[in-house]
Amino acid sequence: MQTRKSFLIKGISSAAMVSLHGCADESLDSFRRKMKTTNPKKAIVLWYSQAGHTERNGKLIGKTLQKLGLAVTALDIRSCDEHTLAGYELIIVGTPVYYLDVPSNVREWLEQIPAIDGIPVAAFSTFGGPGDNQYNTAWYVLKLLAEKGGVPAAIATFGNMSTFAPTWSLGNEKRILKYRDRPNEEIYRQVRGFAKQIIATVQSGTPPSIPKEFYPAEFLKGSIQVKFTKLMITRHAIDRDRCTQCGICAEKCPSGVINIADYIIDRKGCIACMGCVNNCPAQAIDMALLGRRVYGFKDFLKKNGITIREPAELK
Ligand SMILES: Cc1cc2nc3c(=O)[nH]c(=O)nc-3n(C[C@H](O)[C@H](O)[C@H](O)COP(=O)(O)O)c2cc1C
Repeated sequence: MQTRKSFLIKGISSAAMVSLHGCADESLDSFRRKMKTTNPKKAIVLWYSQAGHTERNGKLIGKTLQKLGLAVTALDIRSCDEHTLAGYELIIVGTPVYYLDVPSNVREWLEQIPAIDGIPVAAFSTFGGPGDNQYNTAWYVLKLLAEKGGVPAAIATFGNMSTFAPTWSLGNEKRILKYRDRPNEEIYRQVRGFAKQIIATVQSGTPPSIPKEFYPAEFLKGSIQVKFTKLMITRHAIDRDRCTQCGICAEKCPSGVINIADYIIDRKGCIACMGCVNNCPAQAIDMALLGRRVYGFKDFLKKNGITIREPAELK
């Protein structure tokens, strides 16, 4: 029989679930406006990528659109300026999931783009392992594009091996290696399918309803996790003996906090994206989490004899 206590607990948790669900029940329906064109000829695919997964998928989307007859520009958002989006009839943006969320640099970039009224837009995220909040991350990108006037056309998520260096560096290699075969042909099939779906949707002229998903740990996303991770980073410096001054870490750093000439990392502005560790070819980023050395994605792949498979179109 149900006791008074368990009845109360059930009641309170159901009410909490209903109210949380209520808060999360956002949709992009108010942005289902008329598209400027239902037959786009010029598309741009943009991405932010640290370890290559999002870039690879962005390029594959671009190649697929080209095969469908569109003129396509494919670019990293860091090589864009305020004029880059002008003249495109379809805009697609991809991001990795960082800390259950859109990386702060991607969000800031999307917040400053000029108006794109009536242009169909699509968003995708790439995620690691089983994935956490990957759909909503793409959804937030789509929302930011819609707030600039874009008409939401499609959304997708693509799985990979995670690039979160602390996981393997702190001894949990197995969790990542479970997905060592990703990206695989099945993922690339999904990526090509997404590009085709975008075009079919735009040509239909009817923007779909794209609701946000309920995700119970939503309140833990983004800056809270970044702060928590930064608290655990006990060392983050450049090892002068190993550094070859190639400059890749500074180039990849989305917050511009690396001064390579003087071997300085301004830890205050760091967003804990692991880009420096993941991209350094000389293991010269001396990072430790809770006192344990963190090593990057390239070294992790090498250590485990893994080569990332490229899709046929990008070989
Ligand atoms: C700092 C950091 C945080 C991450 N957080 C998440 C996460 O919350 N959820 C998830 O599914 N994957 C997470 N990942 C995995 C990445 O989203 C995934 O590996 C992505 O494909 C990397 O894209 P890139 O190679 O284009 O940089 C994280 C990776 C990093 C480096």
